[in-house]
Amino acid sequence: MKKYRILTPGPTPVPEEVKAALFREPLYHRGLVFKNIMKELQENFKKLLKTERVPVFLTSSGTGAMEASIVNFFKPEEDVLIVVGGKFGERFFKIAKRFGLNPICYEIEWGDYPKVEKIEKYLKENKNIKGVFIQICETSTGTFYPYKEIGEVCKKYDALLIADGITAVGVYNIEFDKSNIDILITGSQKALMTPPGVSAIIWNEKAHKRLGVNKRYKYYFDLEEEYKNQKEKFQTAYTPSVNLYAALNEALKVINKIGIEKIEKNTSIMSKATLKAFEEINLKPLSKNPAIGVSAICLPDSIDGNKLIKFIRENFNMYIAGGQGHLKGKIFRLCHFGYIDIFDTLNQISAVEFALSSLGYNFNLGTATKKAMEIISQYKGA
Ligand SMILES: Cc1ncc(COP(=O)(O)O)c(C=O)c1O
Repeated sequence: MKKYRILTPGPTPVPEEVKAALFREPLYHRGLVFKNIMKELQENFKKLLKTERVPVFLTSSGTGAMEASIVNFFKPEEDVLIVVGGKFGERFFKIAKRFGLNPICYEIEWGDYPKVEKIEKYLKENKNIKGVFIQICETSTGTFYPYKEIGEVCKKYDALLIADGITAVGVYNIEFDKSNIDILITGSQKALMTPPGVSAIIWNEKAHKRLGVNKRYKYYFDLEEEYKNQKEKFQTAYTPSVNLYAALNEALKVINKIGIEKIEKNTSIMSKATLKAFEEINLKPLSKNPAIGVSAICLPDSIDGNKLIKFIRENFNMYIAGGQGHLKGKIFRLCHFGYIDIFDTLNQISAVEFALSSLGYNFNLGTATKKAMEIISQYKGA
Protein backbone atom coordinates (compact mmCIF):
# COMPACT_ATOMS: atom_id res chain seq x y z
CA MET A 1 0.00 0.00 0.00
CA LYS A 2 1.23 3.46 -0.86
CA LYS A 3 -0.37 6.19 1.16
CA TYR A 4 -1.35 9.28 -0.81
CA ARG A 5 0.51 12.32 0.47
CA ILE A 6 -0.03 15.76 -0.95
CA LEU A 7 2.83 17.90 0.33
CA THR A 8 2.98 20.56 -2.38
CA PRO A 9 2.77 24.30 -1.68
CA GLY A 10 -0.90 24.09 -2.54
CA PRO A 11 -3.15 22.26 -2.58
CA THR A 12 -2.26 21.06 0.88
CA PRO A 13 -3.77 18.31 3.06
CA VAL A 14 -6.92 19.17 4.98
CA PRO A 15 -7.83 18.38 8.62
CA GLU A 16 -10.79 16.20 9.59
CA GLU A 17 -12.95 19.17 10.58
CA VAL A 18 -12.60 20.52 7.05
CA LYS A 19 -13.40 17.18 5.43
CA ALA A 20 -16.52 16.87 7.60
CA ALA A 21 -17.78 20.27 6.45
CA LEU A 22 -17.34 19.26 2.82
CA PHE A 23 -19.28 16.02 2.99
CA ARG A 24 -22.78 17.33 3.61
CA GLU A 25 -25.77 18.36 1.53
CA PRO A 26 -25.12 21.71 -0.11
CA LEU A 27 -26.36 24.58 2.02
CA TYR A 28 -28.86 27.00 0.54
CA HIS A 29 -26.88 30.18 -0.05
CA ARG A 30 -29.80 32.48 0.79
CA GLY A 31 -30.76 30.57 3.92
CA LEU A 32 -30.10 31.36 7.56
CA VAL A 33 -27.63 28.51 8.13
CA PHE A 34 -25.35 29.76 5.39
CA LYS A 35 -25.68 33.37 6.56
CA ASN A 36 -24.54 32.33 10.01
CA ILE A 37 -21.58 30.52 8.48
CA MET A 38 -20.69 33.66 6.49
CA LYS A 39 -20.86 35.70 9.68
CA GLU A 40 -18.54 33.29 11.46
CA LEU A 41 -16.24 33.06 8.47
CA GLN A 42 -15.83 36.84 8.41
CA GLU A 43 -15.17 36.94 12.15
CA ASN A 44 -12.67 34.09 12.03
CA PHE A 45 -10.81 35.66 9.13
CA LYS A 46 -10.75 39.03 10.91
CA LYS A 47 -9.42 37.31 14.02
CA LEU A 48 -6.62 35.68 12.06
CA LEU A 49 -5.56 39.04 10.61
CA LYS A 50 -6.32 40.98 13.80
CA THR A 51 -8.44 43.48 11.96
CA GLU A 52 -11.86 45.09 12.07
CA ARG A 53 -12.05 45.39 8.27
CA VAL A 54 -14.60 43.15 6.59
CA PRO A 55 -13.14 40.65 4.10
CA VAL A 56 -14.77 39.62 0.86
CA PHE A 57 -14.75 35.96 -0.17
CA LEU A 58 -14.86 34.96 -3.82
CA THR A 59 -15.62 31.65 -5.45
CA SER A 60 -12.37 31.42 -7.36
CA SER A 61 -8.82 30.29 -6.93
CA GLY A 62 -6.26 32.87 -5.79
CA THR A 63 -5.82 34.27 -9.28
CA GLY A 64 -9.42 35.50 -9.16
CA ALA A 65 -8.57 37.64 -6.13
CA MET A 66 -5.44 38.88 -7.93
CA GLU A 67 -7.63 39.96 -10.82
CA ALA A 68 -10.17 41.53 -8.45
CA SER A 69 -7.44 43.62 -6.82
CA ILE A 70 -6.56 45.05 -10.22
CA VAL A 71 -9.96 45.62 -11.79
CA ASN A 72 -11.55 47.18 -8.72
CA PHE A 73 -8.91 49.58 -7.47
CA PHE A 74 -7.23 50.69 -10.70
CA LYS A 75 -8.33 51.84 -14.09
CA PRO A 76 -6.85 51.59 -17.58
CA GLU A 77 -3.76 53.65 -18.27
CA GLU A 78 -2.88 54.15 -14.63
CA ASP A 79 0.73 53.52 -13.68
CA VAL A 80 1.39 50.69 -11.26
CA LEU A 81 4.68 49.17 -10.15
CA ILE A 82 4.88 45.39 -10.18
CA VAL A 83 7.67 43.39 -8.62
CA VAL A 84 8.44 40.46 -10.88
CA GLY A 85 10.69 37.95 -9.20
CA GLY A 86 8.91 34.74 -10.04
CA LYS A 87 5.85 33.12 -11.54
CA PHE A 88 3.31 35.03 -9.46
CA GLY A 89 4.82 38.47 -9.90
CA GLU A 90 4.69 37.69 -13.61
CA ARG A 91 1.01 36.87 -13.24
CA PHE A 92 0.20 40.23 -11.62
CA PHE A 93 2.03 41.89 -14.50
CA LYS A 94 0.08 39.96 -17.14
CA ILE A 95 -3.28 40.70 -15.52
CA ALA A 96 -2.51 44.42 -15.19
CA LYS A 97 -1.45 44.54 -18.82
CA ARG A 98 -4.53 42.64 -19.98
CA PHE A 99 -6.81 45.14 -18.24
CA GLY A 100 -5.09 48.11 -19.86
CA LEU A 101 -3.12 49.44 -16.90
CA ASN A 102 0.36 50.70 -17.45
CA PRO A 103 2.41 48.24 -15.40
CA ILE A 104 6.02 49.17 -14.72
CA CYS A 105 8.09 46.07 -14.11
CA TYR A 106 10.63 45.98 -11.30
CA GLU A 107 12.31 42.79 -12.39
CA ILE A 108 14.53 40.88 -10.03
CA GLU A 109 16.39 37.65 -10.45
CA TRP A 110 14.26 34.66 -9.46
CA GLY A 111 15.21 33.88 -5.85
CA ASP A 112 16.09 37.47 -5.03
CA TYR A 113 13.81 39.86 -3.16
CA PRO A 114 12.83 43.48 -3.89
CA LYS A 115 14.92 46.20 -2.30
CA VAL A 116 13.02 48.92 -0.47
CA GLU A 117 15.37 51.66 -1.71
CA LYS A 118 14.75 50.60 -5.29
CA ILE A 119 10.99 50.79 -4.80
CA GLU A 120 11.41 54.21 -3.23
CA LYS A 121 13.41 55.30 -6.29
CA TYR A 122 10.61 54.20 -8.62
CA LEU A 123 8.03 56.03 -6.54
CA LYS A 124 10.14 59.18 -6.23
CA GLU A 125 10.79 59.35 -9.96
CA ASN A 126 7.23 58.59 -11.00
CA LYS A 127 4.66 60.30 -8.82
CA ASN A 128 1.87 58.83 -10.96
CA ILE A 129 2.38 55.32 -9.63
CA LYS A 130 -0.89 54.51 -7.94
CA GLY A 131 -0.08 51.08 -6.59
CA VAL A 132 2.77 48.67 -5.88
CA PHE A 133 2.12 44.96 -6.32
CA ILE A 134 4.15 42.35 -4.49
CA GLN A 135 3.99 38.81 -3.20
CA ILE A 136 4.64 38.34 0.51
CA CYS A 137 5.96 34.90 -0.35
CA GLU A 138 6.86 34.33 -4.01
CA THR A 139 5.97 30.65 -4.00
CA SER A 140 7.83 29.81 -7.21
CA THR A 141 11.17 30.72 -5.59
CA GLY A 142 10.36 30.28 -1.89
CA THR A 143 11.24 33.92 -1.22
CA PHE A 144 9.95 36.29 1.42
CA TYR A 145 9.49 39.93 0.42
CA PRO A 146 9.84 42.64 3.13
CA TYR A 147 6.24 43.83 2.88
CA LYS A 148 6.22 46.00 6.01
CA GLU A 149 9.16 48.09 4.88
CA ILE A 150 7.81 48.30 1.33
CA GLY A 151 4.49 49.41 2.80
CA GLU A 152 6.15 52.27 4.68
CA VAL A 153 7.61 53.60 1.45
CA CYS A 154 4.28 53.22 -0.35
CA LYS A 155 2.61 55.22 2.39
CA LYS A 156 5.19 57.98 2.05
CA TYR A 157 4.49 58.33 -1.67
CA ASP A 158 0.77 57.78 -1.37
CA ALA A 159 0.70 54.60 -3.45
CA LEU A 160 -1.36 51.59 -2.43
CA LEU A 161 0.45 48.40 -1.48
CA ILE A 162 -1.26 45.33 -2.89
CA ALA A 163 0.12 42.19 -1.28
CA ASP A 164 -0.45 38.71 -2.61
CA GLY A 165 -0.57 36.74 0.61
CA ILE A 166 -1.69 33.53 -1.03
CA THR A 167 1.15 31.61 0.64
CA ALA A 168 1.58 34.01 3.56
CA VAL A 169 -1.82 34.35 5.23
CA GLY A 170 -2.00 31.58 7.81
CA VAL A 171 1.78 31.27 7.78
CA TYR A 172 2.96 34.61 9.14
CA ASN A 173 1.40 36.63 11.90
CA ILE A 174 0.15 39.40 9.61
CA GLU A 175 -1.59 42.06 11.64
CA PHE A 176 -3.47 43.68 8.80
CA ASP A 177 -4.25 47.00 10.45
CA LYS A 178 -0.61 47.52 11.45
CA SER A 179 0.92 45.97 8.37
CA ASN A 180 1.07 48.91 5.91
CA ILE A 181 -0.68 46.65 3.40
CA ASP A 182 -3.63 48.37 1.74
CA ILE A 183 -5.06 45.38 -0.12
CA LEU A 184 -4.32 41.80 0.90
CA ILE A 185 -5.40 38.67 -0.94
CA THR A 186 -5.27 34.99 -0.20
CA GLY A 187 -6.57 31.60 -1.29
CA SER A 188 -8.09 28.61 0.45
CA GLN A 189 -5.82 25.81 -0.72
CA LYS A 190 -2.56 26.87 0.88
CA ALA A 191 -2.01 27.60 4.57
CA LEU A 192 -5.77 27.85 5.06
CA MET A 193 -6.01 24.06 4.77
CA THR A 194 -9.09 23.93 2.55
CA PRO A 195 -9.42 22.56 -1.00
CA PRO A 196 -9.03 25.06 -3.86
CA GLY A 197 -12.00 27.24 -4.79
CA VAL A 198 -12.30 30.16 -2.37
CA SER A 199 -10.18 33.29 -2.35
CA ALA A 200 -10.36 36.26 -0.02
CA ILE A 201 -9.55 39.93 -0.31
CA ILE A 202 -9.43 42.57 2.37
CA TRP A 203 -8.60 46.26 2.07
CA ASN A 204 -8.26 49.27 4.33
CA GLU A 205 -10.00 52.66 4.45
CA LYS A 206 -7.44 54.23 2.14
CA ALA A 207 -7.95 51.60 -0.56
CA HIS A 208 -11.70 51.76 -0.03
CA LYS A 209 -11.69 55.30 -1.41
CA ARG A 210 -10.48 53.90 -4.71
CA LEU A 211 -12.95 51.05 -4.88
CA GLY A 212 -14.97 51.61 -8.00
CA VAL A 213 -12.52 53.84 -9.90
CA ASN A 214 -12.97 51.43 -12.74
CA LYS A 215 -16.60 51.01 -13.66
CA ARG A 216 -15.94 48.72 -16.61
CA TYR A 217 -14.09 45.44 -17.18
CA LYS A 218 -15.54 43.62 -14.23
CA TYR A 219 -18.71 41.82 -13.44
CA TYR A 220 -18.23 38.64 -11.47
CA PHE A 221 -15.40 40.20 -9.47
CA ASP A 222 -17.18 43.47 -8.73
CA LEU A 223 -16.05 44.11 -5.16
CA GLU A 224 -18.47 46.98 -4.54
CA GLU A 225 -21.28 44.56 -5.13
CA GLU A 226 -19.70 41.79 -3.08
CA TYR A 227 -18.67 44.06 -0.20
CA LYS A 228 -22.17 45.44 0.15
CA ASN A 229 -23.77 41.99 0.07
CA GLN A 230 -21.28 40.26 2.32
CA LYS A 231 -20.97 43.06 4.87
CA GLU A 232 -24.62 43.91 5.20
CA LYS A 233 -26.45 40.71 4.31
CA PHE A 234 -23.85 37.99 4.93
CA GLN A 235 -24.52 36.79 1.41
CA THR A 236 -22.49 36.66 -1.74
CA ALA A 237 -23.81 38.32 -4.90
CA TYR A 238 -23.90 35.01 -6.79
CA THR A 239 -23.99 31.36 -5.78
CA PRO A 240 -20.82 30.65 -3.81
CA SER A 241 -19.11 27.27 -3.40
CA VAL A 242 -21.15 26.83 -0.22
CA ASN A 243 -19.48 23.74 1.18
CA LEU A 244 -16.04 25.19 0.63
CA TYR A 245 -17.03 28.33 2.53
CA ALA A 246 -18.20 26.15 5.41
CA ALA A 247 -14.98 24.14 5.22
CA LEU A 248 -12.85 27.28 5.22
CA ASN A 249 -14.68 28.46 8.30
CA GLU A 250 -13.78 25.20 10.05
CA ALA A 251 -10.15 25.52 8.99
CA LEU A 252 -9.97 29.05 10.36
CA LYS A 253 -11.36 27.84 13.68
CA VAL A 254 -8.55 25.27 13.85
CA ILE A 255 -5.95 27.89 12.99
CA ASN A 256 -7.23 30.44 15.48
CA LYS A 257 -7.44 27.84 18.21
CA ILE A 258 -3.75 27.03 17.81
CA GLY A 259 -2.87 30.69 17.29
CA ILE A 260 -1.01 32.18 14.35
CA GLU A 261 2.01 33.04 16.50
CA LYS A 262 2.53 29.37 17.32
CA ILE A 263 1.87 28.33 13.73
CA GLU A 264 4.47 30.79 12.47
CA LYS A 265 7.01 29.49 14.98
CA ASN A 266 6.40 25.84 14.08
CA THR A 267 6.52 26.60 10.37
CA SER A 268 9.86 28.33 10.79
CA ILE A 269 11.24 25.28 12.62
CA MET A 270 10.22 23.02 9.72
CA SER A 271 11.75 25.47 7.28
CA LYS A 272 15.00 25.70 9.22
CA ALA A 273 15.24 21.92 9.59
CA THR A 274 14.68 21.49 5.84
CA LEU A 275 17.22 24.09 4.73
CA LYS A 276 19.88 22.79 7.13
CA ALA A 277 19.13 19.20 6.14
CA PHE A 278 19.83 19.83 2.48
CA GLU A 279 22.82 22.05 3.16
CA GLU A 280 24.29 19.03 4.96
CA ILE A 281 24.34 17.22 1.60
CA ASN A 282 25.49 20.30 -0.33
CA LEU A 283 22.15 21.36 -1.74
CA LYS A 284 21.55 25.08 -1.31
CA PRO A 285 18.34 27.08 -1.18
CA LEU A 286 17.49 29.06 -4.31
CA SER A 287 16.29 32.03 -2.30
CA LYS A 288 18.40 34.85 -0.95
CA ASN A 289 15.68 35.46 1.63
CA PRO A 290 13.86 32.16 2.21
CA ALA A 291 10.19 32.25 3.13
CA ILE A 292 9.29 29.93 5.99
CA GLY A 293 6.34 28.34 4.18
CA VAL A 294 8.11 26.95 1.12
CA SER A 295 11.68 25.77 0.65
CA ALA A 296 13.04 25.86 -2.90
CA ILE A 297 16.21 23.80 -3.13
CA CYS A 298 18.65 23.86 -6.06
CA LEU A 299 19.74 20.65 -7.70
CA PRO A 300 23.12 20.01 -9.31
CA ASP A 301 23.17 19.85 -13.13
CA SER A 302 23.62 16.08 -12.92
CA ILE A 303 20.17 15.61 -11.37
CA ASP A 304 17.03 16.16 -13.41
CA GLY A 305 14.41 17.69 -11.11
CA ASN A 306 11.56 16.34 -13.22
CA LYS A 307 12.86 12.81 -12.69
CA LEU A 308 13.20 13.45 -8.98
CA ILE A 309 9.57 14.55 -8.66
CA LYS A 310 8.42 11.63 -10.82
CA PHE A 311 10.42 9.12 -8.77
CA ILE A 312 8.82 10.33 -5.55
CA ARG A 313 5.35 10.29 -7.07
CA GLU A 314 5.64 6.86 -8.65
CA ASN A 315 7.44 5.13 -5.82
CA PHE A 316 5.84 6.73 -2.79
CA ASN A 317 2.58 8.27 -4.07
CA MET A 318 3.88 11.49 -2.54
CA TYR A 319 3.50 14.83 -4.27
CA ILE A 320 6.12 17.53 -3.86
CA ALA A 321 6.61 20.43 -6.27
CA GLY A 322 9.21 21.04 -8.92
CA GLY A 323 10.40 24.29 -10.42
CA GLN A 324 8.23 26.58 -12.52
CA GLY A 325 9.15 28.51 -15.66
CA HIS A 326 12.88 28.43 -16.38
CA LEU A 327 13.49 26.66 -13.05
CA LYS A 328 11.66 23.54 -14.23
CA GLY A 329 13.90 20.54 -13.64
CA LYS A 330 16.42 22.62 -11.70
CA ILE A 331 14.86 22.88 -8.24
CA PHE A 332 12.38 21.11 -6.02
CA ARG A 333 10.05 22.79 -3.54
CA LEU A 334 8.83 21.50 -0.21
CA CYS A 335 5.86 22.87 1.70
CA HIS A 336 5.80 23.63 5.41
CA PHE A 337 2.50 25.46 5.71
CA GLY A 338 -1.04 24.28 6.28
CA TYR A 339 -1.86 20.89 7.73
CA ILE A 340 1.75 19.75 7.56
CA ASP A 341 3.75 18.73 10.60
CA ILE A 342 7.27 17.68 11.53
CA PHE A 343 6.69 14.10 10.41
CA ASP A 344 5.49 15.29 7.00
CA THR A 345 8.67 17.34 6.90
CA LEU A 346 10.82 14.32 7.68
CA ASN A 347 8.88 12.28 5.12
CA GLN A 348 9.52 14.88 2.45
CA ILE A 349 13.22 15.04 3.21
CA SER A 350 13.68 11.27 3.29
CA ALA A 351 11.69 10.85 0.06
CA VAL A 352 14.00 13.34 -1.65
CA GLU A 353 16.99 11.47 -0.24
CA PHE A 354 15.73 8.17 -1.70
CA ALA A 355 15.19 9.86 -5.06
CA LEU A 356 18.61 11.54 -5.06
CA SER A 357 20.27 8.28 -4.24
CA SER A 358 18.43 6.46 -7.01
CA LEU A 359 19.37 9.20 -9.50
CA GLY A 360 23.06 8.78 -8.68
CA TYR A 361 23.76 11.70 -6.36
CA ASN A 362 26.82 11.00 -4.25
CA PHE A 363 26.04 11.27 -0.52
CA ASN A 364 25.38 9.10 2.51
CA LEU A 365 21.71 8.16 2.55
CA GLY A 366 20.03 9.42 5.70
CA THR A 367 22.37 12.38 6.28
CA ALA A 368 19.79 15.06 5.52
CA THR A 369 16.98 13.39 7.46
CA LYS A 370 19.26 12.94 10.45
CA LYS A 371 20.20 16.62 10.36
CA ALA A 372 16.53 17.63 10.21
CA MET A 373 15.78 15.39 13.21
CA GLU A 374 18.60 16.98 15.15
CA ILE A 375 17.30 20.48 14.42
CA ILE A 376 13.71 19.56 15.27
CA SER A 377 14.73 17.87 18.50
CA GLN A 378 16.14 21.18 19.76
CA TYR A 379 12.60 22.53 19.90
CA LYS A 380 10.07 21.18 22.35
CA GLY A 381 6.45 20.88 21.29
CA ALA A 382 7.05 21.68 17.61
C1 LIG B 1 1.95 33.52 -4.31
C2 LIG B 1 0.89 32.97 -5.20
N1 LIG B 1 0.13 33.83 -5.89
C3 LIG B 1 -0.85 33.40 -6.71
C4 LIG B 1 -1.10 32.07 -6.89
C5 LIG B 1 -2.18 31.64 -7.81
O1 LIG B 1 -3.20 31.08 -7.08
P1 LIG B 1 -4.23 30.04 -7.72
O2 LIG B 1 -3.42 28.93 -8.30
O3 LIG B 1 -5.03 29.65 -6.52
O4 LIG B 1 -5.02 30.77 -8.73
C6 LIG B 1 -0.32 31.13 -6.20
C7 LIG B 1 -0.52 29.69 -6.40
O5 LIG B 1 0.34 28.89 -6.19
C8 LIG B 1 0.69 31.60 -5.33
O6 LIG B 1 1.42 30.74 -4.64
